Amino acid sequence: MASSSMTLFRRHTWLGFLFFLALGTGLDSGHALKVPFRVKDVLPVLPRQVSWPVLNTIHSAVDLLPSFVGSVSPNNASTKWKGACFYGNEARFEFTSGKTDEKGLGGGIIYLTTGEAHSWTCMDLYVFATPYRVTWDYYFSSREHTLEIASWEEPAELEYMTFLVTMDQVKQHGISVFLMPSGMLGTLLSLLDVLPLFSNTAWGQSANIAFLEKHMGASFKKRPQPWRSIINPEDVHSGDFLAISKIRGRWGGFETLEKWVTGAFAGHTAVCLKDEMGNLWVGESGHENDKGEEIIVIIPWDEWWELSLKDNSNPHIALLPLHPDLRVKFNATAAWAYARNMAGKPYGYHNMIFSWIDTMDENYPPPLDAHLVLSVMFMWTRLQPAYAANMWNEALNKRLGTDGLDLPGILAESERRGISFDQLLIIPEQDEWVYSDGKSTTCVAFILEMYKEAGIFYPISSSIQVTEFTIRDAYMLKIFENNRTRLPSWCSNADGELPFCQILGEYQMELPQYNTIEPYANMNENCPSLPPTYERPVRC
Ligand SMILES: *[C@@H]1O[C@H](CO)[C@@H](O)[C@H](O)[C@H]1NC(C)=O
Ligand SMILES: *[C@@H]1O[C@H](CO)[C@@H](O)[C@H](O)[C@H]1NC(C)=O
Ligand SMILES: *[C@@H]1O[C@H](CO)[C@@H](O)[C@H](O)[C@H]1NC(C)=O
Repeated sequence: MASSSMTLFRRHTWLGFLFFLALGTGLDSGHALKVPFRVKDVLPVLPRQVSWPVLNTIHSAVDLLPSFVGSVSPNNASTKWKGACFYGNEARFEFTSGKTDEKGLGGGIIYLTTGEAHSWTCMDLYVFATPYRVTWDYYFSSREHTLEIASWEEPAELEYMTFLVTMDQVKQHGISVFLMPSGMLGTLLSLLDVLPLFSNTAWGQSANIAFLEKHMGASFKKRPQPWRSIINPEDVHSGDFLAISKIRGRWGGFETLEKWVTGAFAGHTAVCLKDEMGNLWVGESGHENDKGEEIIVIIPWDEWWELSLKDNSNPHIALLPLHPDLRVKFNATAAWAYARNMAGKPYGYHNMIFSWIDTMDENYPPPLDAHLVLSVMFMWTRLQPAYAANMWNEALNKRLGTDGLDLPGILAESERRGISFDQLLIIPEQDEWVYSDGKSTTCVAFILEMYKEAGIFYPISSSIQVTEFTIRDAYMLKIFENNRTRLPSWCSNADGELPFCQILGEYQMELPQYNTIEPYANMNENCPSLPPTYERPVRC
């Protein structure tokens, strides 16, 4: 498969992952179980032949994990399984010409017959997933139900549905069906709040604003015109930080959820670099190239700015100039060497989740917990084994000091050592861990690693793990200009209200606790992050 579609898959995987994390928002917190993992909790992750008989004898009310019941694929064979409520179920799939077929890709329909209910009042709750979509439904009655897919998201999804895997056997991808514990219904209903976040419409934008106001206390004050500034590159220096916040469309929705889990009021970052000729460049990890891949780039300021103006996610951008004392210390040679060495490498997905899972109890907004994280990992491992391996199995193996274990193997190994799954998740990421696709970084880790190389954290550089930093942690660092009168003249800082320069956006950006925390050794390795206040203990 071409590498471009690989990256596409991976990006969607992460989006899907966030979708699942978002499932946690609406569930009554009484359902959140904060128990360490025990054998029976992880049983459904083990091969079904092994786990089901055991599960059936446990009768555990704590079973919160989904079980994979099968894959419904577009050949004639139907898939049969035993549900929790209905013991005799069968599903088949057909392609259709599609309903709202703007994309010309057609759609599909799942026919699902439920039967042999063991009681009159029970129900079965299912999640249907491809790497491109997550949808769900629940059934109370014995009959044939249909689930329609009006249109495939994109050609790659259609390709995924028709793709034949030929190894030792011929197998077709299909829509994976997961039987959910029925207690998840509330969680799934909350999807109704989350889906509009991804809509590229004014409605979608208001949904994002409303979500951030409600869950993070953001204020979204309208700014006076002009909404875009014309900067003078002479006033911008190597190391100046760009904080970006998107509020519309797919990336808007993605950022909104990321902001919510991390407490950051910006969802993306980039950094300014000047060459010897005085030309201004932007270094960015997570820049989308022509092929749709998310990679690390160094591009001329003008090009970057043009793309930002054209971006339909309604980006808001703030320039955070480095403090003059640090600007003098900033070793541009070392920064450039680092940036050039990283250019073209992939955006870092491996450690993304680990940057905010620091403490066991306090990092999951309720009722999001290690169970749900494991559920998501489990489901994604079924959908995209290669990417699951790439995204978290490698990271979990590094934490155990093992190599090549799959998810059940990892669980078995940590069980053997007496480490629970949630303890395993919080082992801090080490910057020197190198993953199979080389060193990759998230947007903010790229910048902070560059700062590290350039001497910004001297003399404690070696005790700063940049992968432990969220975007919020980065803008809270006390390394930026602290004298408003020294901000450039073109800088729009709302008549001195803002301590930084906002250069784009209709709403005033806010970065609570901007420029307040002196860097210290082992910073952010033990910080909780809980909405709505995201209170940060001193020296965590
Ligand atoms: C699927 O079933 C239909 C009708 O039963 C039959 O005509 C067709 O040949 C079958 N296709 C395959 C691929 O088995
Ligand atoms: C800046 O970094 C380069 C490359 O790492 C190094 O050779 C040089 O000595 C550094 N300059 C200063 C002033 O530290
Ligand atoms: C801020 O900068 C201005 C201009 O450089 C200077 O006059 C003033 O003393 C500075 N204020 C502080 C608090 O450092």
